[in-house]
Order: sequence, then C-alpha cells, then structure tokens
Amino acid sequence: MKRETVTAGKISPGRAVPPGVARPEYAHTGVPAPYRLSCIKVNADQIERMRMAGRLAREVLNLVLAAVRPGVRTDELDRIAHQHIIELGAYPSPLNYMGFPKSICTSVNEVVVHGIPDNRRLKEGDIINCDVTVYAHGMHGDCSETVFVGEVDTEAKKLVQVTWECLLRAIDVVRPGNKFNAIGQAVEAHARQKGFSIVREFTGHGIGEHFHMAPYVAHFYEPENTTQMVEGMTFTIEPMINVGTAECRIWPDKWTAVTADLRRSAQFEHTLLVTADGVEILTGGREPWFLRK
Ligand code: MF3
Ligand code: CO
Ligand code: CO
Repeated sequence: MKRETVTAGKISPGRAVPPGVARPEYAHTGVPAPYRLSCIKVNADQIERMRMAGRLAREVLNLVLAAVRPGVRTDELDRIAHQHIIELGAYPSPLNYMGFPKSICTSVNEVVVHGIPDNRRLKEGDIINCDVTVYAHGMHGDCSETVFVGEVDTEAKKLVQVTWECLLRAIDVVRPGNKFNAIGQAVEAHARQKGFSIVREFTGHGIGEHFHMAPYVAHFYEPENTTQMVEGMTFTIEPMINVGTAECRIWPDKWTAVTADLRRSAQFEHTLLVTADGVEILTGGREPWFLRK
C-alpha cells in the first residue's frame, strides 16, 4: 500500500514562557548571536551547567517519546514538552529561534528535519523524529530520537536501526586529537554500506552558551576538515539518513525539510563533551526508544 505523504497542517500559536524564566539572546528578536567559535576550553563550571542542560533535554525527550502513539497530534507532543520545560524553569530553545514557531521539532516519515508540530495525527506505520533542545543554567542541551508509531514496515525498521548505528559509530571516534572528518567518515561508511544516503545540507554543531556555534560537524566524509577535537569541546552529532536520494526540499513554511523523492528519513542526535581520554554523552539515556517499544 502506498504511504500518504505528509502535508502542512494547522499550526497553533507559540506557547507562552513565564516571565521569570531566563531566555537565550534570540528569544525576543528571533535573531541569534553571530555564529562564533566554540569555547575550545569550557571551564569546569560551564561543563557542569552543560551536564545539567543535557540531562534536562533528555528528561523532556523521554517524556515526549513515551507519548508517541497512533492518533496523537504532533502539537500535543509540543504541548507536553513545553509544559515540562517551563516547569523545570527552562526555556525551549527552538521557540522563536530565527522565528521558529514552536517549542520542539517533530519530523514524520519523509520530513528530514525541522518539522513544525501541527494538528496532524500520527498514524500506525509512521516514523517520527522528536528533537528537544532546552536552555537551562545558561546552556543549551540538544537531543533527538526517531521512533516507530505502532507497527512499521521492514524498510523503516532497517532505516532507523542503521541511523542509530551511524550515530554510535560517530561517537566512537570522538576523542582528543582525532579530526572532525573522522565523524563523517564513520557515518558515511556505515550508511553507504547499508545502501542509504546521507543528508548534506544539515550538520551537527558546536553548542553551549549558544544554540549553534562553530564547529559545524559534517556527517559525510570531508577530507579537508582536519580540525582536531580538543578536550572541553561540546558539540552535537545528528546524522540524517535517507532510504532514497540525499536531496532535500524546503516547504514554503521555510522550515520543514523533506526528501526530494519523498522516501523516508531518520535521525538521532546527542550533545557530546570531549573528555581527556574520549567522550561523555551529555544527553545520554538508556537504550533508544525504538528498541524498547
Ligand atoms: N534542534 C535542532 C538541531 O538539532 C535545531 C532546531 S532549530 C529550530 O540543531 F529552530 F528549528 F528549532
Ligand atoms: Co542540534
Ligand atoms: Co536538535
């Protein structure tokens, strides 16, 4: 049976954040600080605050993923996330980031990234990526997972499994002295071997006091990217892997990115800290949700 494509739904107004909550610099204007160098050496205090932000992002993501089932609207997932984030005294980083209208991103089936929560109801057989970023203790923590809505077909299962493995293999090469191009190399080798393609338009990013900072983190092999990882760097890895073409199109809403062939796409994301001898996953949890439910 042919899958129906995802179409733009109705978007409810952005949710309110209580006045007492500390906001990132773009919350009122929509304009983030210029993309700047990641603090190569975050100090112990910043690391501790990143740990707290990462832990909260994970807590909220877990709550959202637990609510995924057929019939639930993506706007309901946004409501659940927003409510919990403000109860934690934190700010939902996507809200008004370059004008983004909602508090999380929900990307269903052929939506690659930056799907806007709306009144569409999840259907049995869908896959959905939920991407949660919170601003807490002056730092951003960013993570996402793709999960199944009820029973999904074999192709979807394989795509999600391989995308998860791509993230794990990429995290495995994070340690001081390794080059950033080792990340893309690891993702590309695995995705290609399984017959999937890698999105090039969107990358991982430095993260900390700002949502998106240098360095950018490519998920495909870029031989010339020989920048070395240094202890104390914090950045995300967030590969987007497609069943068919790597090409993307952007909807008229200027956010929603879909695959050009409308075949499915999956993504997983963690925020990472380079430690003296390897990596610490700041948004870690138990096993991913698609293996649990
Ligand atoms: N969380 C996304 C990322 O992984 C960014 C979302 S930006 C938004 O980088 F404006 F769309 F929310
Ligand atoms: Co990110
Ligand atoms: Co994210």
